Amino acid sequence: MHVRVLGSAAGGGYPQWNCNHPNSRRARAGEAGAKARTQSSIAVSADGQRWLLCNASPDLRQQINDNAVLQPAAAGPLRASPIQSVMLTNADVDHVTGLLTLRESQAFNLYATSRVQGVLAANSIFNVLNPAFVARHAISLDEAFRPLAADGSELGLTVTAFAVPGKVALWLEDAAKGVDIGAVTEDTVALEIRSTVSGEGFFYIPACARMTEELAARLRGAALVFFDGTLWVDDEMIRDGVGSKTGQRMGHLSVSGADGSMALLAGLAVKRKVFIHINTTNPILLEQSPERAAVAAAGWEVAYDGMALSL
Ligand code: MLT
Ligand code: MN
Repeated sequence: MHVRVLGSAAGGGYPQWNCNHPNSRRARAGEAGAKARTQSSIAVSADGQRWLLCNASPDLRQQINDNAVLQPAAAGPLRASPIQSVMLTNADVDHVTGLLTLRESQAFNLYATSRVQGVLAANSIFNVLNPAFVARHAISLDEAFRPLAADGSELGLTVTAFAVPGKVALWLEDAAKGVDIGAVTEDTVALEIRSTVSGEGFFYIPACARMTEELAARLRGAALVFFDGTLWVDDEMIRDGVGSKTGQRMGHLSVSGADGSMALLAGLAVKRKVFIHINTTNPILLEQSPERAAVAAAGWEVAYDGMALSL
């Protein structure tokens, strides 16, 4: 099974368009050790030919241009794509707007929870995905399903979506009703993806507001986990003067500290741990930073665009 990181940054990307934080300035200047990153997505394939996209980022067009495996084959038909399926983990802007890039009458299967499918259905801009070509499937939590290629054949993968603590997408928040932070609902899911051929599997969790006993039990002994690396500390955006929200308020568990993801995953015997969905303020983006050294010392890798893994 092949896994390709298409976008390793959180919403906004790194550097974010309007961000003048020193991290962003360093990436914008092309400094070594401050690699720019596009927004949150990975691609998975059992055969290296036909791919399942996990989340569709606003940077999808660039990601396809940067990853030849996602481009039409040179000897193929005049219109074609190795992208056969798309699975969404939530309805955040950084995870759904790439669907608009996938218009132009190209067949694929679109999987998401009923909740997220409902959000898409309620937004007529997504009608650019012509139903004659794009089949939308509402998937059930905790039930493994086999994503299909555009021609209806199996991709050789099983996907199990399960709810993790999170919240409704930012753009769907209703201040009048209040926002249930850390709710375990169909709004935010994690994915366990396995190859039906090798049986190997991994977890993709780009957003998670807290660790639960159930989640820890699922992750114990896993071969590979991509985990929410949005912020280093909860008040990072406030401390650095770029925003007013904590990580918790945004539905993200921070990396550091006794109650951070490094500590909480430390005892779970996960073989390979990779932070993904990294915010522009997070010092782990800087390859020479003490924070990067700390995550490396704790056995974590920091995802970068184009990172290729095999299982
Ligand atoms: C998040 O991960 O917190 C969201 O992508 C934020 C956003 O929509 O900008
Ligand atoms: Mn996000």
